[in-house]
Amino acid sequence: MTKASDYKGFATRQIHGCDVRIPGINPLATPIFQTSTFVFDDCAQGAARFAGEEKGYIYSRIGNPNVDQVAKKVAILEGAEAGLALSSGMGAISTVLMSLLESGDHIVADLALYGATFTLMHDALPKYGIETTFVDASDIQGVIDAIKPETRMVYFETPTNPNLKVIDIAELVKHVHEKDPLILIVMDNTFATPYLQQPIALGVDVVVHSGTKYLNGHGDVISGFIASNNTIINRCRDIGLKMVTGSVLGAFEAFLINRGLKTLDIRIEKHCKNAMIIAEWLEKHPKVRKVYYPGLKSFEGYEVAKKQMKLPGAIISFELNATKAEAEQFVNSLEMITLAVSLGDAETLIEHPASMTHAGYSKEALEEAGISETLIRLSVGLEDADDIIADLEKHLAAV
Ligand SMILES: Cc1ncc(COP(=O)(O)O)c(C=O)c1O
Repeated sequence: MTKASDYKGFATRQIHGCDVRIPGINPLATPIFQTSTFVFDDCAQGAARFAGEEKGYIYSRIGNPNVDQVAKKVAILEGAEAGLALSSGMGAISTVLMSLLESGDHIVADLALYGATFTLMHDALPKYGIETTFVDASDIQGVIDAIKPETRMVYFETPTNPNLKVIDIAELVKHVHEKDPLILIVMDNTFATPYLQQPIALGVDVVVHSGTKYLNGHGDVISGFIASNNTIINRCRDIGLKMVTGSVLGAFEAFLINRGLKTLDIRIEKHCKNAMIIAEWLEKHPKVRKVYYPGLKSFEGYEVAKKQMKLPGAIISFELNATKAEAEQFVNSLEMITLAVSLGDAETLIEHPASMTHAGYSKEALEEAGISETLIRLSVGLEDADDIIADLEKHLAAV
């Protein structure tokens, strides 16, 4: 079977080359290996597998064919040497941090992060002796100035959740590595996906994902991924996943994500097409004060997004010319657009970050991160753009 990494095209790689074939049966789709453990022929084989002298499965916390298949696919799509699949995006992020850092280490992180990532760094890691300095990572000099002798990691998302700030990946990597080549650069690529943005090719050391979002794409799975080199992935598996976080993805979830990944490119193309139409429409609407979308020329991150992203993504945030109560009333009244956190699903979802996904931020931290209290986040789905606009238009009229 040709290896997926040997195929040149993204669409081919997302479909072919990672399937598990079973001689004599040969199903097209890899069956679900719903098993906790794997049978050894004898004690010698069990010992050889534990000692790493023989390849083969042992126990599904350490490896499972469906989970390995989808991890390998994400790694190939990210252009990474290896990958690891986990039970959530937070499982992936905590596994990276707990595997690669130790007490006394220091992180420089962007101010705007997914809420639970911020809380993990701000509130939980200090208990283990790991401190974080939060800076605006789009100001590269600010990142360099925050680096201390004990800094081991620079961590950021781009575009950021929820205010879509765009960080110049190649420039940040260049300057951080000039200062100290041993600092690990970790980037959350959830918003862009590997179809739109390839951080590893731009010098990032470790990519993390909430696979819950576009990678699965159908709103029915919680999952996470890490993509990096063999050494880092082995460390994340053998220390983090196996013994610290235990954040194991189930075989059925892996099967669903593998299925979702086969259509990643065409889903993202449609998500982005819809988002561009809606962002332009929102920008012209008299009741909308500001639109945050990297595809708009008026948006600060436009040029950098154009340089490093194939398309500007499909998350739009916006503020209304309205009070907080009126904005809430608007969100509550929408009919097809669904009030729910998460993103990257077929359904268009809307939420209020300050009170929901980013509730772990204090009022001051929100302000410092540029996340306004009246910001509304829209994850543009795969419906017809006209229907999404009709719902927005009808209920904006009532504001
Ligand atoms: C950018 C980003 N990273 C990480 C996460 C965490 O992922 P999960 O909910 O799968 O744990 C999220 C969740 O919304 C997210 O938006």
